Amino acid sequence: MPFKILTLNNIALAGLRRFPRERYEVASDITRPDGVLLRSHNMHGMEIPASVQAVARAGAGVNNIPVDTLSERGVPVFNTPGANANAVKELVLAGLFLAARNLIPAADYVRKLDGTDAELSKAVEAGKKQFVGFELPTRTLGVVGLGAIGVEVANAALGLDMQVIGYDPKITVQRAWQMSRGVEKAVNLDDLFTRADVVTVHTPLNDDTRSLINRDRLKLLPRNSVLLNFAREGVVDVDAVIEALDAGQLSHYVTDFPTTRLKEHPKAICLPHLGASTREAEENCAVMAAESLKEYLEQGNIRNSVNFPEAVLPRDRPDRLAIPHLNVPNMVAQILSSVATENINVSDMLNVSRGGLSYTVVDLDGPASEETLQRIRDVKGILSVRVVPVIES
Ligand code: 3PG
Repeated sequence: MPFKILTLNNIALAGLRRFPRERYEVASDITRPDGVLLRSHNMHGMEIPASVQAVARAGAGVNNIPVDTLSERGVPVFNTPGANANAVKELVLAGLFLAARNLIPAADYVRKLDGTDAELSKAVEAGKKQFVGFELPTRTLGVVGLGAIGVEVANAALGLDMQVIGYDPKITVQRAWQMSRGVEKAVNLDDLFTRADVVTVHTPLNDDTRSLINRDRLKLLPRNSVLLNFAREGVVDVDAVIEALDAGQLSHYVTDFPTTRLKEHPKAICLPHLGASTREAEENCAVMAAESLKEYLEQGNIRNSVNFPEAVLPRDRPDRLAIPHLNVPNMVAQILSSVATENINVSDMLNVSRGGLSYTVVDLDGPASEETLQRIRDVKGILSVRVVPVIES
């Protein structure tokens, strides 16, 4: 103590305040941090100090974090699912309206007009026919990815009287509960693209979703469709989008991820990654990320991790070991027999797994010696062993 938290982006004060000053040192220039707190800073290629025990992303996407490398080191990566969902939903709806009513060129048209008020009014009436748009109840919205954000967007679009179809092969029970019954389930992605005329994408970027929106899928859309991407650039094949805009398959591409070609394209509306940039979302994300980090460092509990399972064991004893390890046979037995060698009683324990990773929390009736800790560390498949400190409140 104190714990050291390295911040790699500006983090909302409401989140930073969650770290009591008597127990935490929080700064952007810490050399041996226990925890890392960030937003979109790119950690790939960064040398991550061996002292790091947890990384928390104040936001949803974790493609800026080397999650696999951290998993191999037994380091949980946290994110803040849902904390910025409302902010992103509102921007997606704004993007939809910008496209449907041609608002960007229309506002540009007015800004460029010269003359008196009377001349202006004449030009306004003469020019408006170029910007005729469409209304949402005549359209079908296809939502690709039904996580916290996708579900909010789908429900909101129903509220605007759109027809809504969604696709997510990995939808969770929690998100399914949150989703309005009016959202129709697409059989697969091609089915969604065949039936939608506005598509919005809300998947994380990973090997399964890279270039999910590609040339073949865009061809399934009716002419003059709209594509919205407030997820990640790589989910969409940008070359294919530009071809679809040029060919008239797409009337608009609205995105938070500009590229040099897109920002010059007359049918692309590019925003500067504004999805989560509201005061409310920044605070929600910062608070949630700080709480996850704190709970892990102080209690060894895991909530909202993208690589480790949820693991919460109420604590009523001081001596707790937190042990991330591979999900392979005989790990718990070896941990327990290491402890038994020192004749310490195990008063409580938890073992949970997710994919190839497991996490074991062991509460002991006394402190384990350095030899016992080393014996556990030496077990093949153990990724790290941490004595969870006792916090005096
Ligand atoms: C997210 O992944 O939550 C959003 O892309 C927001 O990113 P930001 O925190 O950098 O604004």
